[in-house]
Amino acid sequence: MSSRVVVVTGSATGIGEAAAHAFGTLGDKVYLVDIDQTGGARVASEVGENASFLRCDLTDEGEVRSTVAEIETEAGVIDVLVNNAGGFGEAKGIEDLDLAEWRRLIDVNLTSIFLMTQAALPLLRRGTGRRIINLGSLAGQTAGWKTSPAYVAAKAGVHALTRAMATEFAPEGITVNALAPSAVLTDRIRELRDEAELAATAATIPLGRYQEPSEVAAWIVFLASPDAGFMTGQTVSVNGGRLMT
Ligand SMILES: NC(=O)c1ccc[n+]([C@@H]2O[C@H](COP(=O)([O-])OP(=O)(O)OC[C@H]3O[C@@H](n4cnc5c(N)ncnc54)[C@H](O)[C@@H]3O)[C@@H](O)[C@H]2O)c1
Repeated sequence: MSSRVVVVTGSATGIGEAAAHAFGTLGDKVYLVDIDQTGGARVASEVGENASFLRCDLTDEGEVRSTVAEIETEAGVIDVLVNNAGGFGEAKGIEDLDLAEWRRLIDVNLTSIFLMTQAALPLLRRGTGRRIINLGSLAGQTAGWKTSPAYVAAKAGVHALTRAMATEFAPEGITVNALAPSAVLTDRIRELRDEAELAATAATIPLGRYQEPSEVAAWIVFLASPDAGFMTGQTVSVNGGRLMT
């Protein structure tokens, strides 16, 4: 499993940062792709010499293509692509949600996955890892909670796109799965929610607490592993029991 080429988007913080560390610890070459230059460079240097940071706005097709071209020049292949970048936006009703905000959330959560996967596909075909992992959300399986309807729609789209990609790439042995976490205690969530709000959310989760970013990263690492080779097109609910189906 060592020495794979792994690309993690949205890795300047949160779940992506934890995933970059987890792959780095396994000895993989990790490309961190994020719009946040300062955070991305910091995390790459913490992960170690096997990590490189590439600044990219994943909603911009030209930037995505030139980022993948850089990876192609340096590494030649991609074994594992983790489409993690996203953002949940403000909780607003449909009447208050303007078109620019709708488009921004669809672009960053959904279109980014289409653009990155399309650009990376030739390199994924050359690799032996053959894994794509998309970050969905419990919000995409439900009506969402304290979030934008655009985020809910985008994440439902991520789960659907995961199935479509899994079907298309299955004959080539490339698996595509999604994770649907619910409440992960990232720095951003700590900034946005006060103690009372954190406790109120924890009380809605049967396991009674937020999930740690490292617990999501562990699932990403598993889905990227050979042991997960017979699973494709699935959305794995890692939500502390908040939704049971
Ligand atoms: N934190 C949670 O509770 C939670 C729950 C369910 C799903 N998720 C999903 O997991 C993923 C990671 O979540 P997180 O909480 O770690 O998020 P985060 O906000 O902590 O990090 C998101 C990262 O994406 C980057 N990013 C945003 N827009 C970008 C763009 N246009 N181009 C490149 N990079 C961009 C940010 O700079 C940031 O580093 C997201 O897709 C999120 O929707 C998170």
